[in-house]
Amino acid sequence: HWTMEEFIGKEIARIREICGPAGRVIGAVSGGVDSTVAAKLMHEAIGDRFHAIMVDNGVLRLNEAKQVHEMLNTNLGVNLSVVDASDLFLSRLEDIEDPEQKRKIIGNTFINVFEDEAAKIEASEESKGKGRVEWLLQGTLYPDVIESISFKGPSATIKTHHNVGGLLKDMKLKLIEPDEVRALGRLLGIPAPLVQRHPFPGPGLAIRILGPVNRSQVAILQQADSIYIEEIRKAGLYDQIAQAFAVLLPVRAVGVMGDARTYEQVIALRAVQSEDFMTADWYVFPPDVLRRISSRITNEVAGINRVTYDISSKPPATVEWL
Ligand code: XMP
Repeated sequence: HWTMEEFIGKEIARIREICGPAGRVIGAVSGGVDSTVAAKLMHEAIGDRFHAIMVDNGVLRLNEAKQVHEMLNTNLGVNLSVVDASDLFLSRLEDIEDPEQKRKIIGNTFINVFEDEAAKIEASEESKGKGRVEWLLQGTLYPDVIESISFKGPSATIKTHHNVGGLLKDMKLKLIEPDEVRALGRLLGIPAPLVQRHPFPGPGLAIRILGPVNRSQVAILQQADSIYIEEIRKAGLYDQIAQAFAVLLPVRAVGVMGDARTYEQVIALRAVQSEDFMTADWYVFPPDVLRRISSRITNEVAGINRVTYDISSKPPATVEWL
């Protein structure tokens, strides 16, 4: 039996031993609880010899890249580069509707961008005289970021595994359960709202936009999703829900505004309760909360005139729509 404090102490000692006095490590962060906890642990162990990379893939939630920078760099003091690669991702995603193709494009582009950035960090002025980056932080504490680009196959879930560049040695943190990651995060001083955050898939909003992905569709979904989550938090329901998000449907429906007929897109709201996401039940909202969310989305988000609520459980549905 071990306590979480002992785990942290041992992990820090182990990381320091692996790295030696000068070893440097890079790792991807997503803003999720897993990679944030892993980055904080690395920072505690080796300070600025750990360098985190956050890739903005153009399909993040509203203001997410900025918030991750604020949290990891400003608040937690982690050495961080945020790379805005949204143009590259969105150009490769243009006209792609197939969900598995979206996942593959995002996974492969992520590897390209991460490798380029790692090379830049290695070659930078700031890196001079500091020795080579030798290690790649892999898989974080629980499968996340790179390893989480999974594919929904007909029968199996295949996870890609990449060792960036094939040159770096893997730095593996111990695999622990999601609840333990959260407890670890709290002990490391990571703020509660982040520790309690719902999971967010690696392919991001690209698998929540059912039609083609482009800047205007991303902007519509970001706004709707942000209103949805804000109202859930205001109602004090966020921690009762395992995962909540908005989905942008590629169909248009008729509506009315003033004297005029509108013909606009539809937002589907999803919220589930689940232990492990292998099965999930749709969440029963108080009606007034749904009413407020619907009214705000249809009034505030240009291009949306209708909101529906998804009452499907998993199985036979999945949590995500794609
Ligand atoms: P499904 O839709 O398979 O989702 O019922 C179960 C959980 O997995 C997440 N999910 C993903 N996470 N990359 C990820 O990192 C993906 O490609 C992916 N697809 C689904 C989903 O958000 C839910 O938490």
